[in-house]
Formats: sequence, C-alpha cells, structure tokens
Amino acid sequence: MKVTVVGAGAVGASCAEYIAMKNFASEVVLLDIKEGYAEGKAMDLMQTASLNGFDTKITGVTNDYSQTASSDICVITSGIPRKPGMTREELIGINAGIVKTVSSNLIEHSPETIIVVVSNPMDTMTYLVHKATGLPKHRIIGMGGALDSARFKYRLAEALGAPISDVDGMVIGGHSDTGMVPLTRMATRNGVPVSKFLSEERLNQVKEDTKVGGATLTKLLGTSAWYAPGAAVSALVQSIACDQKKMIPCSTLLNGEYGLSDICIGVPVILGRKGIEQIVEIELTDAEKAHISESAQGVRKTNDLLEF
Ligand code: LAC
Repeated sequence: MKVTVVGAGAVGASCAEYIAMKNFASEVVLLDIKEGYAEGKAMDLMQTASLNGFDTKITGVTNDYSQTASSDICVITSGIPRKPGMTREELIGINAGIVKTVSSNLIEHSPETIIVVVSNPMDTMTYLVHKATGLPKHRIIGMGGALDSARFKYRLAEALGAPISDVDGMVIGGHSDTGMVPLTRMATRNGVPVSKFLSEERLNQVKEDTKVGGATLTKLLGTSAWYAPGAAVSALVQSIACDQKKMIPCSTLLNGEYGLSDICIGVPVILGRKGIEQIVEIELTDAEKAHISESAQGVRKTNDLLEF
C-alpha cells in the first residue's frame, strides 16, 4: 500500500506521521515544493520509527511526482492555511490553482489512485478536482466531516463530563463555520440520546462551539490546526487501505442524494478499498433539511468563484 501526501506542512506531516504509526502502509511519499523540506520532515519522522515501532517507509521529495508513481491513495493538503479572522472560503484564489496542478500531476503518475482532498475551502476544492480530472466520483473524497465530527465528540464529552469513548455523533454539511450541521438529535452516550443528559440550550452551545472549531484553534495558534486534521485524514486513509468499510461523513459529489446535485458536500459514506462505496442517506427532520440546503447554498456560492 503506497500513500502519497502532497504538502509537507503541519497537516501533511501529521497525516504522514499518523499513517506511519498505524503501520498499515508499506510506503508514504511526502512531497512539497519547498526545496528539501519534505526530505527533512521525512527524515525526522523516519528517525521516530524505532522509537514508535513502525515499519512504514517515509520518503520526502521536492516536487518530483515520478516518485509518487502507482500510489494507491493520494492526499492533497497543499495550499495556504487560514490566518486568524480569515474564513476557509477566502483561500480559494491561491488554493484553486495549486489543487488543480497537484491533482493533474498526481493522476499522470497514478491513474488508478484515490484522491483525498484536504485543502480549503475543502468542499469547493473537492468539486474542482472532479471538474478538473474527470475521475470517477467514488475516487475523489473530501476530508471535513471526519474532523468536524471528532470536534463535535470532543465538545459533547466536555458538556457531558464523559470520556470521549462514551460519545458518538456526526457532523454533515459543508466544512465551513456556517455550513456544518452537527446532528445533535442522533448523538448518543453509549446509545442513549444526549438530549437525555443535556438541555437544549447546552446542546445548542455544543453545536455552535463545534461549528467554529477550526476558527477557535486558528485564533489560538495563529494558523490552522494540524493534529486533528492529520488524524482525521489517517482514519479515512486507513478505512480505504484496510477495506474497513467505516461510515464516515465525507465530501462527495451528490447526484440527487439529500435532494442535491452537482455539488460536493459532507454526507455519511462507506469507505472501503474502492473509495466511496456507498452514500448513506439518513432520514432528516425538516429543520435539518433546511440547514443542509442552506449549507449547500453557501458551498455553491464558493463554487461559483471557480474558473475552469
Ligand atoms: C480545520 C481546517 C483543516 O478545520 O479546515 O482545522
């Protein structure tokens, strides 16, 4: 199993680290345009191998896509991250050009690959990869919902005073401060609806804190987060690589599901060796449907800024 991660910045490096530590890939290629940077990160990570007990070989390359040839899965993290006060949507100008070039370089050397898009604004970048590459839709996956759901579970556990392992929940919709739809109605503590333990007001607070999860960290760190994004990508990649068939909310091209078409937005999907093996349509309330449709309008507004 060969995995390429494009962009050796904080998210890309964390992603490579978590993938290596889970020991399911034989090789991870880390690629960056900055001379020597990916080589340095790869060497540093490889020097943790004997300490952390993994055998995955991590190689760093400067913009040499021939080294990524025959990758089973490619992750695109390249582009600029947001600064405090910026929205993910404001990154579109620079990141669209980068994501377009990167995806075509990757496919040239790995025509059968599955692509995981992390660069922001993620739903729009996922849509761009579809338009620019024409790859079958099950092989293009946007990573947002896995991260937003992890942040949701963190906030739920905090509100419940419970360990995170007791909590389950999902965030669907766009990966933006206004677009996320945390499904509080379906969140549980060991199968018991969280509304049994938390007031509507507290649950609304959890919802709001979840939606600005990335912005809260950007304000604290001065740049966007990397540990949870890296871990979320590694969970997606593992479900594909190991054919785990996990149900994870991911951004995918919809064709009538959830009443939406010609848009990439976060919905629950089954991830296995073929990529997106199924889109799971869950029954939503009218309020949740309205929220998703509003979220889709936001994503479309950003998609309209794309030039093909
Ligand atoms: C975040 C970025 C990765 O939410 O979108 O932290």
